[in-house]
Amino acid sequence: VRLLITAGPTREYLDDVRYLSNASSGQMGFALAQAAVDAGHRVSLVSGPVHLCPPAGCDYYPVETSREMYEACERLFLGCDGVIGAAAVCDYRPKRRAAGKLSKTGQGLSLELEETADILAALGAKKESRFILGFALESTDRRANALRKLGAKNCDAIVLNTPEAIGSATTSVELISRDGQTVATYAGSKPEVAKSLIAWLTAQIAGQQGR
Ligand code: C5P
Repeated sequence: VRLLITAGPTREYLDDVRYLSNASSGQMGFALAQAAVDAGHRVSLVSGPVHLCPPAGCDYYPVETSREMYEACERLFLGCDGVIGAAAVCDYRPKRRAAGKLSKTGQGLSLELEETADILAALGAKKESRFILGFALESTDRRANALRKLGAKNCDAIVLNTPEAIGSATTSVELISRDGQTVATYAGSKPEVAKSLIAWLTAQIAGQQGR
């Protein structure tokens, strides 16, 4: 099975040296890529800037901005049977990127932001028979928000986790299927949780292909 996995944060530049980003370490996406390779899958890993080595045996596509991640995913999507969206893609980017470095003026600075394109939603909209697994990091109305995202992004299932997971070595997740059922809960190190998620995903894809 060929899997496309997104990981890490993105950087959204306001000038050539400054950017907006988030604290995602990429650990969950990289652990998923490692677990998928270990399970015998072919993996394309598209990641924003992180301090991690890509797992041996996967095809690695490093990117910086959400736009670059979007373009890389669009290219790789056609050749994959499943997508896992574990990246913490920035939801907003500065409307304009200034050339060079903005100088101080002695005044405040207002930034105008625009929404970035939703990569998983774009892929979900043309999924056909591909299996799409999303992530939802929620602090309030967790289940309802996760279910809304599952539907909006046309996912087959969504992994609900909490902000404590960001940058942490451990995580605690709830796996919710398309019909809104909690399929499983997993807690532990990100490699352990990734292994469980990949085992579940592999069984799902095998079941789908068997039909
Ligand atoms: O909407 P939210 O960012 O909470 O959605 C989380 C899910 O959507 C994750 O799987 C994330 O990787 C994906 N996503 C994306 N592109 C965006 C925003 C989120 O692929 N611009």
